[in-house]
Amino acid sequence: MYAALKSIASYIPTKCVSNHDFEKILDTSDEWIIERTGISTRYFALDGEDTSDLGAKAGALAIERAGLKPSDIDLILVGTLSPDFLGMPSTACLVARKLGLSNCPAFDITAACTGFIYLLATAKAFVESGIYKKVLIIGAEKISKILDFSDRSTCVLFGDGAGAAVISTTDDPKKSILDVHISGDGNFSSLLQTPISSLKNDAKQCLQMRGNEVFKIAVKTLVTDVENIMQKNNITSKDVTYFIPHQANLRIIKAVGERLSFQKEQIILSVQKYGNTSAASIPMAMNDVYESGKLKNGDLMVLDAIGGGLTWGSALVYFDGN
Ligand code: COA
Repeated sequence: MYAALKSIASYIPTKCVSNHDFEKILDTSDEWIIERTGISTRYFALDGEDTSDLGAKAGALAIERAGLKPSDIDLILVGTLSPDFLGMPSTACLVARKLGLSNCPAFDITAACTGFIYLLATAKAFVESGIYKKVLIIGAEKISKILDFSDRSTCVLFGDGAGAAVISTTDDPKKSILDVHISGDGNFSSLLQTPISSLKNDAKQCLQMRGNEVFKIAVKTLVTDVENIMQKNNITSKDVTYFIPHQANLRIIKAVGERLSFQKEQIILSVQKYGNTSAASIPMAMNDVYESGKLKNGDLMVLDAIGGGLTWGSALVYFDGN
């Protein structure tokens, strides 16, 4: 028995924020942001709408697209760096409540932008060990609430949103989550951090990033990580339908995609529209391909991410949805 990705869905908040909106509050420009990051717009959650609200909406759609009801789900996992509450309750428990569930194990995973890969690894382990059969995984973020809007080098980069998938069983390895690799190195923890109590809206406690240093590590690590997982599984770039990397910066994605010999049509981009939505970025990008009608059952995807921790990981996933 293998674990398989049965559905994909996302929820995009309704408030669109353009680079021009930042020009009004910061010494920045649409040209600078596009040239250095590729980002044109991002979406922010509304006041009164939190990470679990976005996650529950994406989760409900993923369950429906898998042909299931919420009560069929036997584990909920949420990846987020912007939980509703620090510590407790977990965002996953709040999502479970919003899906109408009162007896379902649920917990959060903190792996920042690598969150979706860590979710896949965890769900695969639970399903293939036979412990759970239907796992809902959700990457959800309301990063706007922990941004320092006076720090032009970080606040223009991020967006809010959620992406979700149902992981269940298949007996066909060509329909499975073929392999997942995750790693991390806490020696680099200070490169990207949200100091404790970051939800109190104090600039010193907001998201902080040493972008330039992260950029250099990102390109090298992402390339090596994908090379390793493809070699281990005897897969070449020609066998892959889509390369769906974490969407942080267009220049990083292009550099990594080229070094891995992926063609333009294979590389999925959504950073221009959504900015960096951290744990939600890969499933949101995957959902865009799905909703455009271009993601077919049996398509092989290579996923790749790096984020705060530092954490990083990659995955080879056949799409097993309809
Ligand atoms: N508008 C205008 N100027 C800006 C700016 C903005 N929004 N943000 C930074 N700048 C300025 C800097 O102050 C600096 O000015 P200075 O030379 O006078 O000091 C200059 O632009 C260059 O800054 P630098 O940080 O070297 O730019 P960069 O090309 O590295 O781009 C990032 C900055 C953040 C876009 C880039 O480093 C990045 O994307 N990093 C990695 C993010 C990432 O991959 N995260 C993955 C894990 S989530």
